Amino acid sequence: TRTIYTAGRPPWYNSAGQQVEPFVIGICGGSASGKTTVATKIIESLNVPWVTLLSMDSFYKVLNEKQHELAARNEYNFDHPDAFDFELLKTTLQRLKEGRMIEVPIYNFVTHRRESRTKTMYGANVIIFEGILTFYNVDVLKLCDMKVFVDTDADVRLARRLRRDISQRGRDLEGVLKQYSKHVQPAFYYYIAPLMVHADIIVPRGGDNEVAIELIVQHIHTQLQLRGFKLREKLAHSYIGQPLP
Ligand code: C5P
Repeated sequence: TRTIYTAGRPPWYNSAGQQVEPFVIGICGGSASGKTTVATKIIESLNVPWVTLLSMDSFYKVLNEKQHELAARNEYNFDHPDAFDFELLKTTLQRLKEGRMIEVPIYNFVTHRRESRTKTMYGANVIIFEGILTFYNVDVLKLCDMKVFVDTDADVRLARRLRRDISQRGRDLEGVLKQYSKHVQPAFYYYIAPLMVHADIIVPRGGDNEVAIELIVQHIHTQLQLRGFKLREKLAHSYIGQPLP
């Protein structure tokens, strides 16, 4: 989970003094499809202060001893909807949308546990929420103002996943392949791919698709302006340390 441009500041207020509701973008897609890259590129290109990136990883349920043993053997199903705490996710996103402060669990993929510390997040102008099942829960879906599905070929996803899980998540080749064929691939076809019907935009090739990213950014700018967020004005006030109007 990463927070960008937030430092305990309140959300944006329009010229009438009303709090502007954050614009929430849900990014859904298979594992290693490039969701985070798309999110990061949107943030870079947006050039708007107070953008928050929230990941579904933070909402993995806490495992019991038996489930830990399964996870250690790459046999726990982390791709099934039951693996996530959707209630916590819903209230967290709701609070963020209301411009309130929240504490988000930090997830460790090596230990399959939540870290003891949490991440504090504050209200933002734009909230990007990414994960494999971001469109699964109907209440969470309703909180998203724009829904983006990242559609990357399965061979590319598997290649990326192998590289990432071995180099960053403490896994070995056999274990990744076992988990992939037993859980990751079936869950993609059963649960994730059908969620594409909810998308406003489907982004082929993920982060490489500069045109799609630019279109998404243009739409967000338009929506922020409609909500009373003055893009020109924000340029006059630098991100940190300047008073808001
Ligand atoms: O970053 P990405 O969207 O790929 O993260 C989701 C993936 O993380 C899932 O496909 C799941 O198999 C994997 N995962 C894991 N070990 C965990 C938690 C999630 O391999 N402890």
